[in-house]
Amino acid sequence: MTARERVEHWDAVYRNGNPERFSWFQAVPELSVNMIDRAGLRTGDAVLDVGAGNSSLAGLLAGRRLRVTALDVSTRAIELARHRVAPDDGAIEWVVAAFLEWPPARRFRLVHDRAVFHFLVDPHDRSAYLERLRAVLDPGGHVVLMTFAPDGPRSCSDLAVERYSAEQLIETLGPGFRLEYHRREMRRTPAGRGQRFTSILACLADPDRAPVSAENNGSAAVSTRRGARAYHGSRGPCAHTPRRLD
Ligand SMILES: C[S@@+](CC[C@H](N)C(=O)[O-])C[C@H]1O[C@@H](n2cnc3c(N)ncnc32)[C@H](O)[C@@H]1O
Repeated sequence: MTARERVEHWDAVYRNGNPERFSWFQAVPELSVNMIDRAGLRTGDAVLDVGAGNSSLAGLLAGRRLRVTALDVSTRAIELARHRVAPDDGAIEWVVAAFLEWPPARRFRLVHDRAVFHFLVDPHDRSAYLERLRAVLDPGGHVVLMTFAPDGPRSCSDLAVERYSAEQLIETLGPGFRLEYHRREMRRTPAGRGQRFTSILACLADPDRAPVSAENNGSAAVSTRRGARAYHGSRGPCAHTPRRLD
């Protein structure tokens, strides 16, 4: 699939369907937030949501006082996501671009990707994605990667997908990435169909810091003020003991 075909495909999907009936739609992206909460982020840290779609995640993270960039190849998807964030007070950077062609102005403490990476069935596209991921992540930064599981769907939105276990995802990410948390889940689509997903939180090791155990890495203490949650945790090195989330 060329870059142009990808844009046209996703724009057509968002223009022709009911956004709340898409198989990937979730009113609240609970697992994404759960994993991000474990990454030891601080207030003001930069977070990138790759292929944000019509998700409410950007608004939830902005409410936690993170600096959020929501990127999607589809203009319509970004319009829909923006609409879900009310009021859109400028706290979120909305970007219409393909991840592989986008020149970011900064690095990020965390990159989140739910159901985007698994569409890369061409090894060249996968390599380009992984190279880009390393380029945009801070050393010691985290990635939340969520894909269909080995026994999950073989396609989505008329596109073939690659399916992964947590072990395959961390192996695919390559040297320097450490698995911190993983979860296998059966989720229900809005139409009630089951989809098995694999989700991981992985850390790109900072060579200047020694690893710690998973128990004390989740140091993102959260304070509550005027309904907004904010992080003030201390930055920790990558955890070395992967843990399964139940
Ligand atoms: C299955 S949807 C998932 C949307 C969202 N992450 C969620 O969980 O609700 C995949 C999204 O990735 C976007 N996308 C696909 N390829 C992309 C690329 N190369 N760069 C940026 N966005 C892309 C699509 O437009 C679509 O919104």
